[in-house]
Amino acid sequence: MRLITQSRKLSGVRYDVRGPILQEAERLEREGHEILKLNIGNPAPFGFEAPAEIREAVARALSTAQGYSDSRGILQAREAVAQYYAAKGITGVTPNDIMLGNGVSELISLVLQALVDDGDEILVPSPDYPLWTAQVTLSGGRAVHYPCDESNGWMPDLDAIEALVTPRTKGIVLINPNNPTGAVYSTDLVRGFARLAEKHGLVLMSDEIYEKILYDGATHEHAAAHTRDTLCLTFSGLSKAQRVAGYRAGWLAISGNRDRATDFLEGLTLLANMRMCSNVPAQHAIPVALAAVTNDGTNDTGIGELCARAAGFASRETLPTGCSRRSRA
Ligand SMILES: Cc1ncc(COP(=O)(O)O)c(C=O)c1O
Repeated sequence: MRLITQSRKLSGVRYDVRGPILQEAERLEREGHEILKLNIGNPAPFGFEAPAEIREAVARALSTAQGYSDSRGILQAREAVAQYYAAKGITGVTPNDIMLGNGVSELISLVLQALVDDGDEILVPSPDYPLWTAQVTLSGGRAVHYPCDESNGWMPDLDAIEALVTPRTKGIVLINPNNPTGAVYSTDLVRGFARLAEKHGLVLMSDEIYEKILYDGATHEHAAAHTRDTLCLTFSGLSKAQRVAGYRAGWLAISGNRDRATDFLEGLTLLANMRMCSNVPAQHAIPVALAAVTNDGTNDTGIGELCARAAGFASRETLPTGCSRRSRA
C-alpha cells in the first residue's frame, strides 16, 4: 500500500517554537528535569492573567455569539480597532480596512497565501519569529533574510536590506518590537523601512503584536504612521499585552496606498471568506480591551505594571517567555 506522506509544500517548512525542540524539552520534563520554556510567548502559564473585564466580555458574548460573523469580524470590534489607530494619529483607517483573525498567526498565513507566488521573495528579519519564514515558504515564496546586528542592539541596516531587493521582491516584514531580539526600533528606522518599501513598491508588513511590551522607557512607533505611497499591513492583537493568547483575537489594519493593491485585497477577502470568520466570542473582547487604551493613553490594561515586574526578573537573569528586556533604539 502506498504510504501516506505529507505534501511537498511542507518541505523546507519549519516551526521550532512548537517542533522537535519542544518535544525534547517535554521528554526531559517527564524525566523530572526542570525546564524553563523560552520558546513561546504565552503569558497565562506565567501567572499573567487577563484583566477581568476582558474575560467577562467574552463570557457575556457566549450566548449571542453563536453564529458566524462577517468574515472580516464584527463591526463593533473593527470600529474599535479603527478608532485605536485614529487616536494614535494614523489617518484613513476605517472599519472596512480592518480584518479580524484567529490571532496574528492566521492573518500572516492569509496575507502571504494571497500575496506570494512561487519564487516571489519576501524580506524577513534574521533572527525572525519563525512563523514568517515558515509561511513564506509554505506559500511557495523565498524568505530572504536581512540581518539584525547583535553588536548594534540588534538593529537592521537599511542599506544592507536595500541591497537584497530584486525584481522578485514583493514585500518586507518588520517585527517591532522584535521577537526574538527584543529590539524596539527608532522613529528614524521605522520611517526608513517605509521609505524603502515605497521606493521599491513593496508591501510593508509590520508585525506589532508586542507593541505594548516595552522596557526602559522605550516607545513604539507604528509603521502605518509613516507609510503613504505603498500598501502597509499592520498586524496586532490581544495575545500579549492583554494576555489572552488562547482566545485567538488578532487584527490586520490596511493602510497606505491601496491603488495598486485592489487585486491582492480581493484575494485576501476570498481567503478570509473561505475560512468563514475568526472565533466570534473572542472578537467581543476587542472593543473592551481597546476602549481603555483608546480613551486614555495611560491606561494600558495593566501591562505596564507587569513589564516592570518582568524588568525585575530580568535583573535576576531569569525571564518569563516573551519578556526579554527590550533594548532602546
Ligand atoms: C512576533 C510574533 N508575531 C505573531 C505572533 C503570534 O501571535 P498571535 O497569538 O496573535 O497569533 C507571535 C507569538 O508569539 C509573535 O511573537
